[in-house]
Amino acid sequence: MSQQFWKPGSEKPRILEDEEGGVVFFGPPLSSAASSSSRFGYASIGSQRQRLPVYKYRTAILYLVETHATTIIVGETGSGKTTQIPQYLKEAGWADGGRVIACTQPRRLAVQTVASRVAEEMDVKLGEEVGYTIRFEDVTNPAATMIKFLTDGVLLREIMNDPLLTKYSVIMVDEAHERSISTDILLGLLKKIQRRRPELRLIISSATIEAKSMSDFFQTSKKHRGPEDHEFVPRKVPAILSVEGRGFNVHIHYVVEPVSDYVQATVSTVLSIHEQEPAGDILVFLTGQDDIDTAIRLLTEEAHASRKISSGLIVLPLYSSLPRADQDLVFSPTPRGKRKVVISTNIAETSLTLEGVVYVVDSGFSKQQFYNPISDIENLVVAPISKASARQRAGRAGRVRPGKCYRLYTEEYFVNEMSSVGIPEMQRSKLVSCVIQLKALGIDNILGFDWPASPPPEAMIRALEVLYSLGVLDDDAKLTSPVGFQAAEIPLDPMISKMILSSNQLGCSDEIITIAAILSIQSIWVSGRGVQKELDEAKLRFAAAEGDHVTFLNVYKGFLQSGKSSQWCHKNYMNYQAMKKVIEIREQLRRTALRLGIVLKSCEGDMLAVRKAVTAGFFANASRLEAFSHNGMYKTVRGSQEVYIHPSSVLFRVNPKWVIYHSLVSTDRQYMRNVMTVDPSWLTEAAPHFFQHQRTPDSIVH
Ligand code: CDP
Ligand code: MG
Repeated sequence: MSQQFWKPGSEKPRILEDEEGGVVFFGPPLSSAASSSSRFGYASIGSQRQRLPVYKYRTAILYLVETHATTIIVGETGSGKTTQIPQYLKEAGWADGGRVIACTQPRRLAVQTVASRVAEEMDVKLGEEVGYTIRFEDVTNPAATMIKFLTDGVLLREIMNDPLLTKYSVIMVDEAHERSISTDILLGLLKKIQRRRPELRLIISSATIEAKSMSDFFQTSKKHRGPEDHEFVPRKVPAILSVEGRGFNVHIHYVVEPVSDYVQATVSTVLSIHEQEPAGDILVFLTGQDDIDTAIRLLTEEAHASRKISSGLIVLPLYSSLPRADQDLVFSPTPRGKRKVVISTNIAETSLTLEGVVYVVDSGFSKQQFYNPISDIENLVVAPISKASARQRAGRAGRVRPGKCYRLYTEEYFVNEMSSVGIPEMQRSKLVSCVIQLKALGIDNILGFDWPASPPPEAMIRALEVLYSLGVLDDDAKLTSPVGFQAAEIPLDPMISKMILSSNQLGCSDEIITIAAILSIQSIWVSGRGVQKELDEAKLRFAAAEGDHVTFLNVYKGFLQSGKSSQWCHKNYMNYQAMKKVIEIREQLRRTALRLGIVLKSCEGDMLAVRKAVTAGFFANASRLEAFSHNGMYKTVRGSQEVYIHPSSVLFRVNPKWVIYHSLVSTDRQYMRNVMTVDPSWLTEAAPHFFQHQRTPDSIVH
């Protein structure tokens, strides 16, 4: 290591050592490190940066990173961890000699916004010294980028091509408390990489973290001590640094009686804050785009009804798939005399900071993935948040001055019923993608992998079984060649990858890649509420008897024929932004396919080929209409779960006997989204082994 930030003899940061636990803990510094500011940094915008709580710890952070293999940094949201620490590292020389500082985030939107913020602070063009990479979007310049923000999923993919991540000098795994699947896999892999690369530094940072358990995880066992002849070996025992913030008090209000409709309750709470409370922006936590759109519509209606209200309110949504221009509105300062209301998913819980928020309205819910390995059903459901999340949400109100948080649940519920922390995503998700990635990285004993939290064995077995039936894994649970290796190369769910690979033999890769691109975005239609009738009519213009997948092809063709026109989208109730994204993703997939030796070929209208390719990937999602069902009830072939066709599908109310679906959503019932008719004989043909122990489709065909 060439650069040494802290030198013995110079002012040494205060260290409190706990020799027994082996943990180094830093208290707040005795004197401000401001004296070092002149040597580093960008003086012109420096003052804003220097006001952030993390600035006082600049010396300490650089010292710890220099001397420890792993540093764990805990600090409240908004203290400057994400935007400042990578800059400190760069200023101290960690990006010299072509090396790169990486900072991972679980969320794509957070990656984009923090990268552009840091580029702005450093006064450089985004994509040069400071860049970002998310799936399907790479805004970096390998010759120039020194600080790179990326999703943890993208970094995992990079490990496939560069197993030791050699270009990075420091990797900051940010928002580690969220415990996303990718973060957990990444932590396990980074721990392995660190043994081979003692010079690599890790920073694990988050708003709330069980620092001690994370530290225990990274505490390398004795037999793995680094090479003794190494000139300078950093300490293996992780350091823990706690950044003390300057949050203001937040007064918590609970509802007296449980609310029955949290969207409605949100709207009335926002209105009463606006009427009764002094100036200050409002941040509302709902669960997803649908909730948020409803709340915005209701708020706008009420505001229109009362002129007094409408004059002062600016209501804005915030969720991951929000178009760029709308994101910018959320982060721009509130005009004088106005009150901004940002209605957000839990993305604003810790990943993004909004200035000026004084009031928080917390619905108590968020959308979470749940997986049942017995029925093999994975669902994104609206579920209660944990106490830890509730505290984070409340904290968002105390950034600029004392604030208020309105919880739309009772105090009794908070105290007695809310769980204290959330369950790591790893323990409530389908593990198919996770397993294929680890296999591709050469990790064979997946159950024996060093996980921060072990995945449930049943879920692991299910994943192995599905991958085996897809022909991705062989009898020894190794990736098959070429299908397994190719599927691992495609950055999508293995079922989609298999569909793409099969389309090559079936001669319909051109069509299947379009379908894959459309399936990987949330919806190509404009949000339905209020325009439901018009939307249904628009859909009819494209509807295909074979179902949604073939309908997508009609839509895509129409869009191309219109010259990719936004008016055309508007007229057909299609989301123009989403269609532009489809074109982008499709182009990426085309390139990936080409790399795998798949040359795009059109089946020229032979929908049988298209449907067989879809079946080759999605046979496991087959279901059959119940014989005497009058309400369109289906049972899944695997697991016999009761499911229904989603109202958004072109096959809603058509109810063909056999269908396969792309995904399930659960509201009042389990709904199949994106549904296609299928001939049951194709299922056994596609995966004879998989259907062996089921009610075999053929035996129940009438
Ligand atoms: O990561 P952490 O939550 O500790 O803080 P951060 O994301 O680094 O944000 C530090 C400060 O930068 C916040 O207080 C915001 O005021 C500001 N910031 C901003 O104004 N615009 C952004 N897009 C990101 C951060
Ligand atoms: Mg952050």
